[in-house]
Amino acid sequence: MGIYYDSNDKIFHLKSKDTSYVIGILQDSYLVHLYWGKGISKYNKSNHLQFMDRAFSGNPYEHRNDRTFSLDTLPQEYPQYGNTDFRKPAYQIQLENGSTITDLRYVEHTIVKGKPVLEGLPSTYTENEDEAETLEITMKDSLIGLKVVLIYTVFEQLNVISRSARIENEGKQPLKLLCAHSLCVDFRDADFDFLHLYGAHAKERHIERQPLRHGIQSVESARGASSHQHNPFIALLRKDTTEDYGEVYGFNFVYSGNFLAQAEVDQFRNTRVTMGINPFDFSWKLKSGESFQTPETVMVYSSQGLGEMSRTFHELYRTRLARGAHRDKERPILVNNWEATYFDFNDQKILEIAKTGSDLGIELFVLDDGWFGERGDDKSSLGDWFVDRRKLPGGLDQLAEKIRELDMQFGLWFEPEMISVDSNLYREHPDWCLHVPERSRSESRNQLVLDFSRDEVCEEITKRVCDILASAPISYVKWDMNRHMTEIGSATLPPDRQRETSHRYILGLYKVMHRITSAFPDILFESCSGGGGRFDPGILYYMPQTWTSDNTDAISRLKIQYGTSLVYPIVAMGAHVSAVPNHQVHRITSLDMRGMVAMSGNLGYELDLTKLSDDEKAEVKKQVSYYKQIRRLIQFGDFYRLKSPFDGNETAWLFINKEKSEVIVYYFRVLAEPAEPLQILKLKGIDTTKQYQLVGTDHIYGGDELTFVGLSVPAEISGDFQNYVWHFKMA
Ligand code: DGJ
Repeated sequence: MGIYYDSNDKIFHLKSKDTSYVIGILQDSYLVHLYWGKGISKYNKSNHLQFMDRAFSGNPYEHRNDRTFSLDTLPQEYPQYGNTDFRKPAYQIQLENGSTITDLRYVEHTIVKGKPVLEGLPSTYTENEDEAETLEITMKDSLIGLKVVLIYTVFEQLNVISRSARIENEGKQPLKLLCAHSLCVDFRDADFDFLHLYGAHAKERHIERQPLRHGIQSVESARGASSHQHNPFIALLRKDTTEDYGEVYGFNFVYSGNFLAQAEVDQFRNTRVTMGINPFDFSWKLKSGESFQTPETVMVYSSQGLGEMSRTFHELYRTRLARGAHRDKERPILVNNWEATYFDFNDQKILEIAKTGSDLGIELFVLDDGWFGERGDDKSSLGDWFVDRRKLPGGLDQLAEKIRELDMQFGLWFEPEMISVDSNLYREHPDWCLHVPERSRSESRNQLVLDFSRDEVCEEITKRVCDILASAPISYVKWDMNRHMTEIGSATLPPDRQRETSHRYILGLYKVMHRITSAFPDILFESCSGGGGRFDPGILYYMPQTWTSDNTDAISRLKIQYGTSLVYPIVAMGAHVSAVPNHQVHRITSLDMRGMVAMSGNLGYELDLTKLSDDEKAEVKKQVSYYKQIRRLIQFGDFYRLKSPFDGNETAWLFINKEKSEVIVYYFRVLAEPAEPLQILKLKGIDTTKQYQLVGTDHIYGGDELTFVGLSVPAEISGDFQNYVWHFKMA
């Protein structure tokens, strides 16, 4: 591992675990991309750049006599607009005179151990300096005093390179950023498939893979949140790449707001990938002496398919993105009252559910929406973070104490970023929401978005949330966010900064999250946005788990959890057993199936436990006690996908601990079909030289047999919505 600079050839060779990334300085000026892929010992220009006259690819002024040199055909690290490169640039800046032309050239670089912090932004980190090395390359446009520092970090133990850019105005005049991506990678071919995660509310992170075509393919959000609709993740895969074989280049944006991730295939079949804050409806004024730090992007290279890419993201995010007291701790099994009561509860009802939960071994009770202000439904009170004594006469303190007497922890729901028009906060501060003067304010779920770009708004909300957290023994917080931004504007920003609002909002949000989570380091925070609408690495930095989806149906969850697992670790995925018929899709599945799907994530329950029959309670008790035995393996082990729900009727995945001594395999079948083949499931990730015993039996199989021969899925599984589990321990 390390970053090496060859001063003769002017080449940087960045080496992470088994990955090489090579950058060259051409003509002492241009920063060119030379290679990214499987690690090599030394780069000796075997794929040296070739130049030829290409019509309509112009020549920069100083090369006007050389028709073979054009930025349009040069693979670059941070390309600009306006001087012969006609592809999409990595950034764009407008000067006071209206011009959008810039010309960055290499100036200098530094290589340091470790990984510097990105001030005010979430990012991956190291625990000691030997884990990573960072290269900072400075480029300048001397005419206007523009300086751009490109930041690359390589991780020693993982095939990960992170990137960001810092843009500084060293000139005298203000500059306006119109676009500031965090990365650009120019591949010299286009033989890829483009994979991304699309979705909707209650249908998050579905996988779509399609051949990369000429032109631009992109996913984005302009909703003010990373969104249910598109996750800030894309991957380029070689055509023959599968779950277990072939090359994958994965890109993930460590940010929770508007983003753009795009791949552009140009006329010569080169592919340019850029990723960053969405330039749509964005600009940022940089006064003389000011700088702008782009959020981080994480790039993962895998030569062993999507599975290995996912395990790399999982390891990085579990250990070097998530933080805090709970990062490495087994997470409590919770029961949440949302689908049990919605807004219709009082302390008696809550205590009944909690008591039943405690009898069944559940460890944490979470009081969801409706405990504050006068919130009998979703029409009022957001912002009034004061307990509703009509529902909870003894207050939160007394309720939490009673729940603790049941030997359970107590958790609470908030939606700190929102304001109801029918709230005291709105009556006092009608200009505290995002809005545009004289325009009406569009509501969504009867609410408006607080203007977190303003310090006084952030201060007041931080205080209100902290006051509640200090008022009772609260061990867990669910941080919700239930609408996207419209009429984006801030009452305090001048006209030429209005397009900064949505990014300033996210910076404000991160500040608030930082302050609240640091003030209460022992509280476990789970983020949520109408389910998984903000399941992104930006939020995971502050809150180590996320409510995966409002859709709790076991069958829908197969796709949602499978898709989510492409990037995000299992421990981060909240997964609950809920009632049947399911409230979102009205399907009926067995408690066993619901349990196995939820146990494939961070297990919880979200139903009125008091309404279960004695048999069902006994089954839940068994699930809870079983999950307690296996949760370290599920939450902190390695995850292998065996069968994809996007390919057909079956889903299967397995969890294996780091020592490879314990394995759990889950198999699910959606519909019973005539003439279904009798399936054999081949395991992955296990030690082929060791023996494994099927727990509870005396059957022992070699790891090689389980891997190469496989397991018969029992033929007696019949009917719709079936599931099966195998649990092995090394013999
Ligand atoms: C949306 C969340 O995803 C649900 O789990 C629940 O907390 C509701 N909001 C409450 O309003």
